[in-house]
Amino acid sequence: MSLKEISTLVQVLELVMSMSYVFLVIYLLRAVKAAAAAIAAQQNKEAALAEEQHKENQKLATLIAAKQIKEAQKLAAAIAEQQSKEAQEPAPKKAIAMHWGRPAVETNAFEDAIGSNVVDPTRIDVTLDSVGGLDSVKKSLHELLILPLQRPQLFADGKLLRQPKGVLLHGPPGTGKTTLAKAIAKESGAVFINVKMSTLKSKWFGDADKYVNAVFSLAYKLQPAIIFIDEVDGFLGKRNSSEFEALKSMKTEFMALWDGLTTDQKALVVVLGATNRPDDLDEAILRRFSRTFEVGVPGRSERAKILKVILKDEKVEEDINYDHIAGLCEGYTGSKLLDLCKQAAYFPVKEVLCDEENGRVSDGEKRALKQSDLENALSELRAHSDQHRSIAYNGMYV
Ligand SMILES: Nc1ncnc2c1ncn2[C@@H]1O[C@H](COP(=O)(O)OP(=O)(O)O)[C@@H](O)[C@H]1O
Ligand SMILES: [Mg+2]
Repeated sequence: MSLKEISTLVQVLELVMSMSYVFLVIYLLRAVKAAAAAIAAQQNKEAALAEEQHKENQKLATLIAAKQIKEAQKLAAAIAEQQSKEAQEPAPKKAIAMHWGRPAVETNAFEDAIGSNVVDPTRIDVTLDSVGGLDSVKKSLHELLILPLQRPQLFADGKLLRQPKGVLLHGPPGTGKTTLAKAIAKESGAVFINVKMSTLKSKWFGDADKYVNAVFSLAYKLQPAIIFIDEVDGFLGKRNSSEFEALKSMKTEFMALWDGLTTDQKALVVVLGATNRPDDLDEAILRRFSRTFEVGVPGRSERAKILKVILKDEKVEEDINYDHIAGLCEGYTGSKLLDLCKQAAYFPVKEVLCDEENGRVSDGEKRALKQSDLENALSELRAHSDQHRSIAYNGMYV
């Protein structure tokens, strides 16, 4: 073999070798590419899986949340039901007894039902001083009802000082009868059982007598106690044939229990009645009210006293001539005088608001009530009642 041939052969071999390198590199590159593709595919697969898992988790979370919400709603409904049940049920006895101001008393279900009409004297905010005028009535009531309940030992022996078991306050509406009764309960420290016809009426078809009984038995347990019947003519009025049997029997029961009180002199329980229409009271009832007091329409000097009492805690000018105002209010009862003062109390407020509306400087402080406010309020009330009368006269309200 010639040198030239050898060199050609070498060249050919070198070419073959370099080509195999190229193939090898290509092969390797392809392998790398395939591996990368496989990895990418794997990663995609994993991402899809993760996505699916995430979706699944979200679904599960929604389900759990919905379930939790449902359970929470169920729980809330159960709590609300329980709370409304508890609200309907009578409050724990101990709390009721505390409310009455007699914590250690045991009561039955009927007495508990009457319990809503019982007022603890410490929660009453009127005293005899909150009642203007009526000096002689107040004095007698103090001696008859308040002293014996406050100092029973002074009245314990003999028959002469026996406390009346029935006291009736009668007079026109708005003269202070209910206020007097409350003041008596407050000052005597007696539990005040405000017997409401509405409470008894709602029960009377079933156990009317038992409820009437409970009024008295509760009064015994809580004594000293005052059984107060406001507008007593409505409950113990003249009996007539058209009356419900239940009402009749309730009255009879009431009287029997009342007589029981009269025989038990130690009982510190009094029936106190108030009425605007004493003539409508049953004879037998009137007899049992052994003391009666007229609470009449106040005269001029009494009206002045009432005005002073009503304005006692208000911000008022010192130079108000109460006697003069009282003179202008002929025929006014305590409740009408209260209306007058309420009306007058608006004038200082209106002035502050008016100042603010008109941009005038105002420190928001209202001035004291003055005599002219009362006079102006009186004119307003008169104009209003004249207007009312003329409307009524024209037949629009009648
Ligand atoms: N003599 C009085 N002194 C003070 N306020 C009175 C007087 N009379 C009535 N009032 C007031 O009038 C309102 C109604 O009185 P009230 O006692 O309910 O009258 P009655 O029971 O006689 O109809 C009460 O808010 C009370 O403050
Ligand atoms: Mg009244």
